[in-house]
Amino acid sequence: MVKTLVTGATGYLGRYLVAELHRRGHTVRAVARDRSRAEQPGSWGAPSLSGLVDEWAIGEVTDSTFVGDVAKGVDSVVSALGVTTQKADPWDIDYGANRAILTSAEQHGVGLFCFVNVIGGDRCTAELTKAKTAFVEELTTSSVPSQVIDPPGYFSDMMQIFGMAQRGRAYLFDPERKINPIHGADLAAACADRLEAGEQGRWEVGGPDLFTWEQLAECAFDALGKTRRITRIPPGVLTPILGIASLFSKRKADTLRFVTFGMLNDSVGTPTGTHHLADFFAAHAGTSSAGGA
Ligand SMILES: NC(=O)c1ccc[n+]([C@@H]2O[C@H](COP(=O)([O-])OP(=O)(O)OC[C@H]3O[C@@H](n4cnc5c(N)ncnc54)[C@H](OP(=O)(O)O)[C@@H]3O)[C@@H](O)[C@H]2O)c1
Repeated sequence: MVKTLVTGATGYLGRYLVAELHRRGHTVRAVARDRSRAEQPGSWGAPSLSGLVDEWAIGEVTDSTFVGDVAKGVDSVVSALGVTTQKADPWDIDYGANRAILTSAEQHGVGLFCFVNVIGGDRCTAELTKAKTAFVEELTTSSVPSQVIDPPGYFSDMMQIFGMAQRGRAYLFDPERKINPIHGADLAAACADRLEAGEQGRWEVGGPDLFTWEQLAECAFDALGKTRRITRIPPGVLTPILGIASLFSKRKADTLRFVTFGMLNDSVGTPTGTHHLADFFAAHAGTSSAGGA
C-alpha cells in the first residue's frame, strides 16, 4: 500500500487531498497543528478529517525537531501548506516549512514530492509568491523527484466575490480578465492522478468553466437572486491603496498585492473536473457567512 504524507492537510485543499487519497486506498499521514480542529468540518464544505487519516503528525511545521522525521517511511509527499489568512510570514511557511519538509523527504529517500503552487506566481511581486517561487526552485533541483501544480483561485476564494454580491455590489479591477476557478475536490483528484502517474513535471490545472471576472460576479448575483451591481475600479488606484495598506499591515498589503495580481492577469489552467461554480454559489446562497461555514 502507498503511504502518502499530506501537509497543509487542515486547509480547504488539504482536506480534499486527504479525502481523495484515502478514497484511493493510500495510507495517509496528515500534518496538523490541532487534531480536534482537523476533525471538525472545514470551510466552504471541505470535509472533516475524522476517519480519513491513518497516521497523525501533530506539531508545528516551523519546529525543526518535529519536521525532521515527518517524511520518514512515506512513499510520497503532497504539500498544500501555505499561508492564506494565517498571520505567519510566507517566508517562514511557504518557503521555510516546505523546505524543511523537503529536507526530511531528501533524508528519508521519498520517491516523489508534489507541491501545490499558484498559477502565474513567478510573475507576481508579492512576498507570498516570491516565497513559493523560491521553494519551487529548490524543489525542482532537489534529489527528490518533483511535481508542481499551478492552479488559479479555488472556489473557496471566489466566496470573496460572493460576499460582495451579498452586500449588494462587486468591485472589480479589470472585469474582462479571465479565470477558471477550481473546486478543492477536483484539484485534489488532479493531484492524486499526477501522484499516481509518478511522472515529474509542472502543470497548470483549472476548473471546467472559464469566466471573465464580470461573468463570475454576475454568477454570484444570480445565485443570490440579486440585481447585478458591478463597479470597475481603475487599476491606477492600486499603487496608492497598497502604499496606504502597508502603513497599517505589511502582511495584509502583501495579500492584497497577491489577490489583485490575480484579478489583473488572466489565471487560466487546463480545464479539469466536474464541479461548477454556479452550483457552488447556489449551495451557499442563504447559508454562507463570512467565516466560511
Ligand atoms: N485559495 C486559493 O484560491 C489558492 C489558489 C492557488 C494556490 N493556493 C495555494 O494552495 C495552498 C492551499 O490553499 P488553501 O486555500 O487550501 O489554504 P488554507 O485553507 O489556508 O490551508 C493552508 C494550510 O496550510 C497550513 N498553514 C498555514 N499557515 C500555517 C502556519 N503558520 N503554521 C502551520 N500551518 C500553517 C494551514 O494550517 P491551519 O489549518 O492550522 O491554519 C492549512 O493546513 C496554499 O499554499 C495556497 O497559497 C491557494
